[in-house]
Amino acid sequence: MTAADGQAGAPTDERTGDHRTTPLRVALLGCGVVGTEVVRLLTTQADDLAARTGARLELVGIAVRDTATPRDAVVDAELLTTDAEELVTRADVVIEVVGGIEPARSLLLRAIEHGASVVTANKALLAQDGPTLYAAADAAGVDVYFEAAVAGAIPIVRPVRESLAGDRVRRVLGIVNGTTNYVLDRMTSEGLDLDQAVKEAQALGYAEADPTADVEGFDAAAKAAILASLAFHTRVSIDDVDREGISAITVDDVAWAERTGYVIKLLAIAERRDEGVQVRVHPALVPLAHPLAGVRGAFNAVFVEAEAAGELMFYGRGAGGAPTASAVLGDVVSAARHRVLGGKGPVESSYADLPVLPASSARTRYQVRLDVQDRPGVLAQVAALLADHGVSIEAVRQAPAPLGPDGGDGLARLIITTHEASEESLAATVAAITGHEAVRRVLSVLRVEGV
Ligand code: NDP
Ligand code: HSE
Repeated sequence: MTAADGQAGAPTDERTGDHRTTPLRVALLGCGVVGTEVVRLLTTQADDLAARTGARLELVGIAVRDTATPRDAVVDAELLTTDAEELVTRADVVIEVVGGIEPARSLLLRAIEHGASVVTANKALLAQDGPTLYAAADAAGVDVYFEAAVAGAIPIVRPVRESLAGDRVRRVLGIVNGTTNYVLDRMTSEGLDLDQAVKEAQALGYAEADPTADVEGFDAAAKAAILASLAFHTRVSIDDVDREGISAITVDDVAWAERTGYVIKLLAIAERRDEGVQVRVHPALVPLAHPLAGVRGAFNAVFVEAEAAGELMFYGRGAGGAPTASAVLGDVVSAARHRVLGGKGPVESSYADLPVLPASSARTRYQVRLDVQDRPGVLAQVAALLADHGVSIEAVRQAPAPLGPDGGDGLARLIITTHEASEESLAATVAAITGHEAVRRVLSVLRVEGV
């Protein structure tokens, strides 16, 4: 069946609520955390979905890796198949919640080739090779929707892609990974170390058995790439994102952040500057008074700054089966409406084709924490090193260095907060400070965002 065939049939009669008699065939690829909840919504909301789209949505098959795996009672075992390649050829709308690059990419391309519109939650695939899918869908005249790929239940893709299409987005700043936000939150509120907090996140089902994608920032980087592409009408892939995870964050970093009026968050930041766009993911100090500081547990929040709209904030559950399935179903309804009533969703917009700038060009504030010999003139010498590299100091705080295994006696702890400086000059400054004879150790260098 082709896309045009899928549009045949009488649409909903607004007056009587009757909908067309030919159902739309929906194929589901993947029936794990998200897929199971997609099945639940398709089943329990069937009448509402039919009224909203103008056609009943008939689940015609569910592709999985192993049909013998025990499943939730909502999943009809008769629909399970391991032949995803065949399944995608007999659907009007294909939902992909398998994850990973292959076979997800080939299956989606095959679905598109056979005239199906596709809905995916797969941020890894979109951030690596989204344009291939968008081009194939455009050529076939079908939709690609992916609201669930960024920040789970939070509507952020549609607002950036459609609602702000008449504005100029300057900056997107957000917490887009629930697992790391949970981990940092537990380190802050309970003094847990990173490993303990990750174990808790795994026990609660936030983090996977291998938490690398979350902890090392890959998941957030993929989401940042997708948001940047939409916001700046420019192709940005995950390889363009400067990425640093939270694995180096210590209990000490978290405690000192709080003492100095901040909380540590893993942020995704995409900025439009005169010379191009810059996209990065890294832990950062956020002032306690900033709204992002109050985003607790596994929640996500995204700030968007646009020239005419000003500041917008989106907040909610960024992960989990049911929240993510909500976003998937919203997309299914949009795609289904087009099949019934005609029309098409947005296509890729990459006309601006702005240069993607390297990490070294990023400019932000920094907080450097270091232990130095507590004797006259040292503070002035450290300040001179910053001045030599063109880095301006905003504030300096001094405290006795805590006694440690290698002694704190005779040492002072300096917490230096800078004005905005480039990554390049800050890195050179830190190298110079580290080499100074009066400096015992540089304990941490953290960016300060949201000031
Ligand atoms: P799960 O690992 O829970 O589920 C994956 C599903 O895909 C399983 O049912 C598995 O089958 C099936 N599968 C794996 N390989 C194949 C294959 N080769 N052919 C057919 N089926 C296959 O993943 P999630 O539900 O957590 O995530 C799915 C997608 O949603 C990912 O892209 C993820 O990034 C995204 N996402 C997830 C969120 C979350 O909170 N979990 C939030 C937002 C997005 P079987 O059951 O037999 O093993
Ligand atoms: N692992 C992700 C998170 C959810 O913790 O936010 C999927 O995007």
